[in-house]
Amino acid sequence: MTEFVFFGGKGGVGKTTIASAYALECADAGLETLVVSTDPAHSTADVFEQEFGDDPQPIEGYDGLSAMEIDPEREVQEHLQGLKQQLSEQVSAAMVNEIDAQLELAHRTPGAYESALFDRFIEVMQNADPYETVVFDTSPTGSTLRLLALPDLLERWVERLLEKRERSIDRYEKAAIGNRKPRRVMDGDPIVARLQERKERFEFAGTVLREEATFYLVLNPDELSIRETRRSIETLEAADLSVRGLVVNRLTPEPDPHEEGRGARYLRRRVATERDRLEHIDDAFDVPTVATIETRPEEVRGTLLEDVAAELEVKPGEELRIG
Ligand SMILES: Nc1ncnc2c1ncn2[C@@H]1O[C@H](COP(=O)(O)OP(=O)(O)O)[C@@H](O)[C@H]1O
Ligand SMILES: [Mg+2]
Repeated sequence: MTEFVFFGGKGGVGKTTIASAYALECADAGLETLVVSTDPAHSTADVFEQEFGDDPQPIEGYDGLSAMEIDPEREVQEHLQGLKQQLSEQVSAAMVNEIDAQLELAHRTPGAYESALFDRFIEVMQNADPYETVVFDTSPTGSTLRLLALPDLLERWVERLLEKRERSIDRYEKAAIGNRKPRRVMDGDPIVARLQERKERFEFAGTVLREEATFYLVLNPDELSIRETRRSIETLEAADLSVRGLVVNRLTPEPDPHEEGRGARYLRRRVATERDRLEHIDDAFDVPTVATIETRPEEVRGTLLEDVAAELEVKPGEELRIG
């Protein structure tokens, strides 16, 4: 069975860094691992100093580690093109322009982006067989998670639709003239088939996320990041998904005791502030802090990435966990 691991958190806190380091640890532990990135800024490419595309591709220099980058904007565009194509075959030419304009608008609404992304997540999850661990450097957001409630809604919708169609087919049959055979319009009805397919996709996603996925949240020792973490925990829990642990990234290193001067005084004050924040994090959340990572003097890539990975202490086994 594949384990899906998500790293959530505000932009810039270190999701991509921690997810990449975690994936590296998994691969080192002998697990066939895939990193899935959704950052249009190609930050995974920066971390591994290699370009990635929309399909998984081995990362050079690391055994058992592959990566792919999903471009959410392109997902939205492709989705839009698909719909337009389909509709242009079904409506008059005069309607096409009007519908195009409407669709363009619909795709700018909040949530369109997330929902296209989520569709792609599901596809990745459905094709995850070659991997033992799939690490996502982002976690589903509130509007994505609301889609998980969709199967129940669609179920009722599909049922009502089916009933309606059945009644009309029934009437049609009764009115059937002579020995003309009534058409079984419902079998292969494209609308019903689409709804059913969509319902099954979200059902699958819900089951996988609840049963085979682990969620970690990455945060920095500052108030804004802590507040955001609280919101994310609530959002995930509202969808029946529990957060396994917090990774506090970018802690300030302490100067040696004999060190004096402005720099050392600054660092000591900063370290004290962060210690308070860490205590607050422990008190305020039921979710444990599973790792704390120091700030490095440079961007985390190459050997620095291996350093950070070593700090994560991933223990593979029955249950993969940090710390
Ligand atoms: N512990 C760290 N020490 C130094 N730089 C870090 C650390 N963690 C992250 N960074 C740097 O901060 C920037 C943002 O990190 P990133 O992982 O891309 O964040 P996110 O994916 O949450 O937006 C990157 O340039 C990354 O190299
Ligand atoms: Mg990122």
